[in-house]
Amino acid sequence: MYKSILFVSIVLLAVAASLSVNDDVLDDNLIREVNSNPHSSWKAGRNPRFEGVSIGQAMSMMGTRKSVGKTSIKEKASSSIPSSFDSRVQWPNCIHPVLNQEQCGSCWAFSTSEALSDRLCIASNGQINVTLSPQALVSCDTYGNEGCNGGVPQLAWEYCELHGLPTYSCYPYTSGNGTDGDCIKDSCADNSQYQLFKAKEFTMKTCDSVECIQELIYANGPIVGTMEVYQDFISYTSGVYVYNGTAPLLGGHAIKIVGWGTDSASGLDYWAVQNSWGPTWGLNGFFWIQRGVDMCGIDHDASASQGNTKQ
Ligand SMILES: *[C@@H]1O[C@H](CO)[C@@H](O)[C@H](O)[C@H]1NC(C)=O
Ligand SMILES: *[C@@H]1O[C@H](CO)[C@@H](O)[C@H](O)[C@H]1NC(C)=O
Ligand SMILES: *[C@@H]1O[C@H](CO)[C@@H](O)[C@H](O)[C@H]1NC(C)=O
Repeated sequence: MYKSILFVSIVLLAVAASLSVNDDVLDDNLIREVNSNPHSSWKAGRNPRFEGVSIGQAMSMMGTRKSVGKTSIKEKASSSIPSSFDSRVQWPNCIHPVLNQEQCGSCWAFSTSEALSDRLCIASNGQINVTLSPQALVSCDTYGNEGCNGGVPQLAWEYCELHGLPTYSCYPYTSGNGTDGDCIKDSCADNSQYQLFKAKEFTMKTCDSVECIQELIYANGPIVGTMEVYQDFISYTSGVYVYNGTAPLLGGHAIKIVGWGTDSASGLDYWAVQNSWGPTWGLNGFFWIQRGVDMCGIDHDASASQGNTKQ
């Protein structure tokens, strides 16, 4: 299954790259169309993060494969789930900063290391408060994952359960230019003591429904979601993102879902999501996307393991 999806992605990537190698991913016509549509629930603009980035380069950043085909597993929401919730409000000192994967398909590593950082802090009531290293996943988690060429979040969670990750400052990010880098396993770049932080073994769950995703976030903190990225999404600046079926597909992306709510301006239900395209993209590095209609596939194939408080 992974292999056939990967193959299809490679073919798509090759076709698109041959068609549009020098095209700017920021398309003023798309931006104008979104902003001039009175019914649009979101706004677009030239995100500085993507100035000078071609469509081919943007596609190579989309490094996530869905782990399974779409399923229809539904879980009934427990009555305790509120109609809106934000991890940044609930656990204000445990949600770690927006990072930047740069020119590398490592979203799977960023979303997983970030969600685990948050979950460890939440589970330990702030006692374990570290920003973990996405680089350790990019360079060392080669069991089914492929560094800057992409990965599957569930496999990254398994790595975090079995091996754990050092901190970001111990093992800083060096793959921003698309080079995976050799795995370093016993020393820290900042000369601190090498320590691995693990997720709790055999706790990984995959959600295929809105209710399941809400339950997991509400109980234990942010989780890793997966979505398709279309070209117009690159220019997102605010509001609830809705894909209307026009802009071309760039690829699969993994992100960290932090909460949900209903937008008073558009009336749409949304997920609040942290991206890994730096703090200048979107809403200070975050975005809202429509919830409940499987927009871009975001309502299924979300995953997380629990934080282990015994390190
Ligand atoms: C999608 O949006 C584009 C740009 O605003 C518009 O031209 C197009 O008609 C829309 N398509 C649908 C199916 O709504
Ligand atoms: C975790 O560390 C960050 C950065 O040093 C700090 O802002 C935050 O308050 C800390 N959180 C807790 C729960 O101590
Ligand atoms: C990418 O960056 C790494 C670390 O900074 C460096 O070792 C490597 O040579 C660079 N690779 C390319 C292709 O520029």
